[in-house]
Amino acid sequence: MTSYVAAIDQGTTSTRMMIFDHTGRSVAVDQREHEQIFPQAGWVEHNAEEIWENTRAVAAGALAKADITAADIAAVGITNQRETTLVWDRKTGKPVYNAIVWQDTRTDKIVTELGGLGGGQERYREKTGLPLATYFSGPKIKWILDNVDGARERAEAGDLLFGNMDTWVLWNMTGGTQGGVHATDPTNASRTLLMDLDTLEWDASIAEDMGIPLSMLPEIRSSSEEFGKVRERGALAGVPIAGILGDQQAATFGQACLSPGEAKNTYGTGNFVLLNTGTEKVLSENGLLTTVCYKIGSNDTVYALEGSIAVTGSLVQWLRDNLGMIGTAAEIEEHARKVEDNGGAYFVPAFSGLFAPYWRSDARGAIVGLTRFVNKGHLARAVLEATAFQTREVIDAMNADSGVALTSLKVDGGMVVNELLMQFQADILGVPVIRPVVNETTALGAAYAAGLAVGFWKSEDDIRNNWAKDKEWTPELDADTREAQFKNWKKAVTKTFDWVD
Ligand code: G3P
Repeated sequence: MTSYVAAIDQGTTSTRMMIFDHTGRSVAVDQREHEQIFPQAGWVEHNAEEIWENTRAVAAGALAKADITAADIAAVGITNQRETTLVWDRKTGKPVYNAIVWQDTRTDKIVTELGGLGGGQERYREKTGLPLATYFSGPKIKWILDNVDGARERAEAGDLLFGNMDTWVLWNMTGGTQGGVHATDPTNASRTLLMDLDTLEWDASIAEDMGIPLSMLPEIRSSSEEFGKVRERGALAGVPIAGILGDQQAATFGQACLSPGEAKNTYGTGNFVLLNTGTEKVLSENGLLTTVCYKIGSNDTVYALEGSIAVTGSLVQWLRDNLGMIGTAAEIEEHARKVEDNGGAYFVPAFSGLFAPYWRSDARGAIVGLTRFVNKGHLARAVLEATAFQTREVIDAMNADSGVALTSLKVDGGMVVNELLMQFQADILGVPVIRPVVNETTALGAAYAAGLAVGFWKSEDDIRNNWAKDKEWTPELDADTREAQFKNWKKAVTKTFDWVD
């Protein structure tokens, strides 16, 4: 009798495995960070072999902590940082280049050139739901094929495979060079700029624009079905891999946002607000993305509108690692609590340009409103407020696109332990912010997708029933102050434009 489902969460800064019981409670977690490689300004890379080693280690580690074996696990799900792009050799299993991370802006020129073929930034919007931007995988694949010696010839000869991190982990877990499964799910595929949102198939004409051979792209399956069994002689050997969801879609699923109109915001490296729009594909007119929310087996595809914010939690990391202004991420709240407000300072962390709703790769970070009055506490506050203001911008866009104002926001992710931020978020949105008991909803969502496929959970009702509220913050700020602060923020944002040609 198997009592648990596991989820591997291959995120931007770390890889972990979590084990859940039938009530959706976590029984064990093991986690390893990997190196963030910054070869030059605007470039961000990961070593995919390090990530695969970490994946194996955390799988063994979580099972050991729970004191169980593979025989106790009904299925494993995979969730992952999306868009991060890897190309590897199918015969040797060796990457031809480091993984190019979603935050990386090196494809700026490629993106402009593609837009120049006609249609500009909107060229692929109708088919893919996405603006042309450095964020997505397609242009990153093109960069690798254009810049790594011999890569294009090898790709055309059928020797190279592309995958996001879900595919890399799946291929290795199911045997790698010994028959590894080369597949993905529609949530990940919908972030490549290469998938048709209606047919859930690769679009040959876009691939041709980017010079990407279709033979290197993984098979697009559903988000919840058996992809294969774990083949390698590791801790999970023999367990079916039965779910794949990009991490933000997994969090949406884990938050039980299963009906149209339900939305969540995950506070991770970046912030990602997803609004379930049901089986209807809503194209944004306000700078949001249209994306696949999930596809459970042969059920109809469920779509979402997404507001992607590149830098939120990673701004706190930057203060810690690059400036040494704090010793731990938690200290940011201590400093922020020493002051009443931001002292007039606004910090716009446009480190990867600006994502939603602006999509400006020419933007770079700025701190504005400085006077000699401003101290460390004010800056700490400005850092936290940046997350809340950016969220307000994408929620405003969502309200405009959907024509319905959101009445509350479910939140999850690392930063939701920060009470000051949560209160400010409610204040600046003017609606309640709700945190669930299990805020590790990303891993939980992937576990649900895998568990549904093998019958461990019977239906989406099990997911709804498992969801429980932990805490709710209600707005306390008066509307005039709220709007005055938001106006200042928007002015600060304009100071980041036109920094890169
Ligand atoms: O689109 C990028 C997103 O999937 C990254 O999420 O949580 O790994 O920062 P995270």
